[in-house]
Amino acid sequence: MAQFQKPKGTQDFFNLEAKKFRYVEERATQIAQSFGFKEMITPIFEHTEVFTRSSGEESDIVSKEMYTFLDRAKRSITLRPEGTAPIVRSFIENKLYTNYPNYTKVFYRGPIFRYERPQAGRFRQFHQFGVEAFGDANSLLDADVIYSGYQILSDLQIPSISVKVNTIGDFASREAYQAAVKDYFSNHKEHLCSDCIRRLDKNPMRILDCKVDQTKEFFQTAPSLHDYLNEASKSYFQEVLHYLDTFQVKYQIEKNLVRGLDYYTDTVFEYVIESNDQYNGLAICAGGRYDNLVKELGGPSIGGVGYAFGQERLVVMMEQYNLFPTFQDGADLMILSLDEVSKTESLRLAHVFRKHGLVVEIDYKHSAMKQQFKLSEKLSPKYLLIIGEEERKNQTISLKSTQEKTQESYPVVDILSIVLKKFNKAETLKETFQYENA
Ligand code: HAM
Repeated sequence: MAQFQKPKGTQDFFNLEAKKFRYVEERATQIAQSFGFKEMITPIFEHTEVFTRSSGEESDIVSKEMYTFLDRAKRSITLRPEGTAPIVRSFIENKLYTNYPNYTKVFYRGPIFRYERPQAGRFRQFHQFGVEAFGDANSLLDADVIYSGYQILSDLQIPSISVKVNTIGDFASREAYQAAVKDYFSNHKEHLCSDCIRRLDKNPMRILDCKVDQTKEFFQTAPSLHDYLNEASKSYFQEVLHYLDTFQVKYQIEKNLVRGLDYYTDTVFEYVIESNDQYNGLAICAGGRYDNLVKELGGPSIGGVGYAFGQERLVVMMEQYNLFPTFQDGADLMILSLDEVSKTESLRLAHVFRKHGLVVEIDYKHSAMKQQFKLSEKLSPKYLLIIGEEERKNQTISLKSTQEKTQESYPVVDILSIVLKKFNKAETLKETFQYENA
């Protein structure tokens, strides 16, 4: 039978790869928690409408990339293509806004699914680490959220990231701009691609994001959103920038940054990789403010701001700059046994050490000593313990250091404290160990 392969655009993580992945996740979690974000876990699938109502029918995500299917009861279900809408859905459903006017700050992590063309740093199943903060629009909160992402990158020591910020204005500014964009592109209709002709009616601003038309000359003179910002949006943006300056975040204002999802208002930002390879220009983190989304999904009129990191991209950057610590791969101890009775004793002893947090291996087969030593080379334990008939009879045990190549015999009742001391671990259990079958 043909061997199965993982679906295109997905990855397997084993051992060290998984450790790297979790390391990044754990560091980000700690930083987010230090900013007061609390974890929210939502299902990986939702009713499709959660995404069509939030991301926008014309967005690439909704129009081309969702994994949508009918379940057995013919409900339309979608594997989440992003994390914000499910968090908003849960925020509303669980009435977390009863905390209002205080802010509700949430972080989340987990798999995301998008039917995209796989390439470097782009997968069909990937993972996001994100935060969302709900409450009144507040420029200090926006800046603090942006800063928390900055802190994650600096905690992980990832260099070569540029912080790009922009404002896309409030609802009123966007309406005025929307009309101007529609007017402008209507005059160039014959040069637009078929997608953009459709966008002209449904969501003209999306045209600015078009990969096909973007290079055409008339794009250069398209109206600029910044010319249509009202005073409220302009001063809100200035406040955000002022706080970022205060926090010494080195950002660039990127007037073309619009983001690919419809729910944003005012502040938007991206952390972008700067490198000499295929990752250059990819966003490692992106987000912004969304003041209409909670209402759009049926909740009260409460705003929000957040971002999501692509965890795979974080891992790639960590690898590129050699930033991962050395993860322990070998065992702490391996217990060898010279006969079958000793095997059972070795496992009993292993259980005691494991309760103290040591990584303990034994040979589960009844192999000869030579094979057990061979196996120990693969498992690379720091110490070997050896139990045989002689040791059982005398209630002793041999301890061998694989690094120093020394071997000594000790009373078995003392072995726990001797070994734990070598690992700088305290003897926390009252239990002592003696052979039951001497
Ligand atoms: P997004 O820009 O679509 O925003 O995705 C956020 C991050 O996910 C990207 O910056 C990138 O690092 C990573 N990412 C996106 N697509 C892929 C892919 N195919 N493979 C690997 N990584 C990918 C959002 O999803 C918003 N929900 C962010 C947000 C939170 N806005 C407000 N709150």
